[in-house]
Amino acid sequence: MMISAKNSTPNFLWGAATSSHQVEGYNDKNDWWAWEALGKIERGERSGPATDHWNRFRADLKLAADLGLNSYRFSVEWSRLEPQEGCWDAEAFDWYFELIQECEQLGLVPMLTLYHFTLPLWVAEQGGMSSERFPEWFVRFTRKVVERLGSRVSLWCTINEPMVVTVGSYLGKFMPPAVCEPEKARLACYHLLKSHVLAYDLIHRELPKSQSRWSEIPVQVGIAHNVIDFVPDRSWSLIERWLAEQIHQFYNMSWLDAVTGRGQRFSFPLLMAQAPVVAEAQGRVTADYLGINYYTRARVRFTPTLSGLPVDIGFGREGEQVSDVGWPVYPQGFQKLLSIAGKYQLPIYITENGIADHDDDLRPAYLRDHLREIVVARQSGVDVRGYYHWSLLDNFEWVKGFEPRFGLFKVDYTNFERTATRSARLYQEIIAQHRALGGLAQNLGDLEGFLEGLSTGA
Ligand code: GAL
Repeated sequence: MMISAKNSTPNFLWGAATSSHQVEGYNDKNDWWAWEALGKIERGERSGPATDHWNRFRADLKLAADLGLNSYRFSVEWSRLEPQEGCWDAEAFDWYFELIQECEQLGLVPMLTLYHFTLPLWVAEQGGMSSERFPEWFVRFTRKVVERLGSRVSLWCTINEPMVVTVGSYLGKFMPPAVCEPEKARLACYHLLKSHVLAYDLIHRELPKSQSRWSEIPVQVGIAHNVIDFVPDRSWSLIERWLAEQIHQFYNMSWLDAVTGRGQRFSFPLLMAQAPVVAEAQGRVTADYLGINYYTRARVRFTPTLSGLPVDIGFGREGEQVSDVGWPVYPQGFQKLLSIAGKYQLPIYITENGIADHDDDLRPAYLRDHLREIVVARQSGVDVRGYYHWSLLDNFEWVKGFEPRFGLFKVDYTNFERTATRSARLYQEIIAQHRALGGLAQNLGDLEGFLEGLSTGA
């Protein structure tokens, strides 16, 4: 069915998100694949065929469209597109082109992420994000993606969770190369910001307008930024309050400030010296929207020690409702962080939000309650324009392997069958209700009463 471009422009994006390595399968030329082979994943798992999305993408996108979604966030796998330095794989580009075309046919506005945690091995082997050549490699890659796929894409996310990938790779040891080298973390902050800004400028220079069915959606470039509500473990403890604030500034605020030209404060007391300043980003807004990934809150505890940082970051507590990976369910934190993000006066997309919940017991209420926070935030003037649930499907959850189940659709890993969860049906119902209310962004507020009365069976 062809709908005229005008009529089809969505005013609130209802989406779901995935990333290449987590769903496609056999991404065997990247740093994660190599790391998995070293036995670094829980239970010795490896991503292998992942969810076989590479072969099933049409059916997967159909599942998304049948829920009533009008957008899909995915990432392109750099190691497929440029498996060796300077060698481009035309077939891999074609596959992404088909995926984008399929999105268009199904009425799903594509949001394309350029870098979601995985690097081609050749990049990783030359120092990855800590290499001074990283921005040059990244921009060359971006240029190719823009040339080959760009005409059909309006929504761009340069980097998924730059803070998480920096901390995971160079401080916390939960992503390859899994070292604790603050100097590399410092350089990574600098190179990632530089890469983002150069890509931001390039995309806008090369793509004044998309030629997709949604050509009136302006080209928008941003990052997807993970935020966590950090609270002192013991609220009476001055030191824990101070530590929680330092972590909040570093983890939540530094990237938001950096891409909005409000300063580049990539440093942490006693751990990481100030990163060099990216001149190209100084005093400029280099994001057309803020992508916010919110899952949970964390408690910051002061743990005096003779070596290392005297701090421990913990998640759930006895008696608290937590996900299968131990993250507290805490929609209030979402509200708090949305209002902080709103102060930047940019459009906001919730680029990820979801819960690991094998039996789909907690997810329905989680979904409802987090959507309600968006409605409340919008009522107070925060310009949230879309919501992407993490994730469309169960998938390979990085160092935790396949055990955590984040999908709206369950995946049976013996035959790759997909089954809708109760949450998927609920999401469908909420979207339908929003459309019934007129489908206008300003009417999102009317959803509040509906969400309030919605039984999640929990
Ligand atoms: C995010 C990440 C996703 C997914 C999700 C659930 O940090 O961007 O790839 O893994 O967490 O843990």
